[in-house]
Amino acid sequence: MSLDFKPGAFNGFFRDETFRDDFTYRNSPEGIRRFPFPFDRDDYMYSVNMEPHTSGRKGSVFEHTFDVDEHYVSEMIDRAKVLAEDPLRCQSLPHMTLAGWDLLELIMESKARDYPQWFSLTKDGNRWHWINRPLGIDQTFTFLDESTLPYGPFEYITRQTQGDFSLQDERDNDLWMDAGMITSQADWSLDFDIGMSFMEWHAPVPLAHEKGIFDRALKFLLKLQHGAPVRRFNWTMTVNPLLDTAPETYPKWGPTRTTLSQDNMGNKMHLRVELQALFRLPRSNAVAFSIRCYLGKFEELVTVPKWGRRLHRVVRDLHPDLAAYKGFLRNRDAMAQWLSAYDDGKPTSPGWWPED
Ligand code: HEM
Repeated sequence: MSLDFKPGAFNGFFRDETFRDDFTYRNSPEGIRRFPFPFDRDDYMYSVNMEPHTSGRKGSVFEHTFDVDEHYVSEMIDRAKVLAEDPLRCQSLPHMTLAGWDLLELIMESKARDYPQWFSLTKDGNRWHWINRPLGIDQTFTFLDESTLPYGPFEYITRQTQGDFSLQDERDNDLWMDAGMITSQADWSLDFDIGMSFMEWHAPVPLAHEKGIFDRALKFLLKLQHGAPVRRFNWTMTVNPLLDTAPETYPKWGPTRTTLSQDNMGNKMHLRVELQALFRLPRSNAVAFSIRCYLGKFEELVTVPKWGRRLHRVVRDLHPDLAAYKGFLRNRDAMAQWLSAYDDGKPTSPGWWPED
């Protein structure tokens, strides 16, 4: 059995584009306006920046539980390519199967509710019928019976959902990363991290441990309740619209950091924003972590005057340890130079929305 995956639904909404080779990825003008710009002020430092993951402004990336946007079909094709080259990007330890079903249920119910034009879920007891129109999938299966799906439940649903996912088992007052679908990560490895605890997988992050951020974040997450998800932003910078910036493929993309000039900066340098959400799952008591990646070219972002000004100030003033960890210390001055043309020194309004 295989996933009945027939992409080709590049209708007027879904873009036919690539995240590799010729890199045709870009955002439409509407896509730029709804880009989740992560800076609500002119400077940035780590914090326990979590808020309830409730429905936000209409049309924004916060409107629905799992945002489906114009890049959906192309991102799923890119994920299938990454998995074909390296199947270890999706792993689930044997005790995580129930959490996989929990996540499948959460995603199917959310998408069918929020995007009825694209997804539908009908249930007759444990006999479920799932339709994913953009990907051409029509599947009848028995909930909690793995043998009725072409993949395990976790892999099945995350092959159809934008963003990376990890599933954390809760034991001994800690969270353990015991499953993941990680094909669009900011330079960390599922194969390395699988089985690690919250503090172990966060070990490489500078400054945040000393500030007590991870102690507080873990305490908070251990109290996470079913039905009350939370979200936060994370961000970094990526040369070219490359989703798959994994340590495993570093030799392919690491050297692109030396290819930047003032002439190509606007097109090549991308702000990479992760909208992360955390859900307590009902049967397994696991914690699902979704990491939805949005890429915005510098030249797209500066079309919003407030974002142009602010991005310049954040990049220019960022603590060097953070710039080094995020991999752009060597290019920081050149990036700030390019962005300075869009900063007239005027004050910016609080908050991340694009209006001036
Ligand atoms: C179960 C939930 C979470 C998972 C699975 C997770 C996973 C990760 C991973 C794999 C990294 C990359 C570490 C590396 O360099 O190898 C990371 C970075 C980070 N995480 Fe988490 N994380 C979770 C929750 C949180 C929470 C709640 C916070 C809130 C403070 C947080 C804050 C951070 C920060 C600040 C970084 C550094 C990011 C950067 O500067 O680019 N994480 N996380």
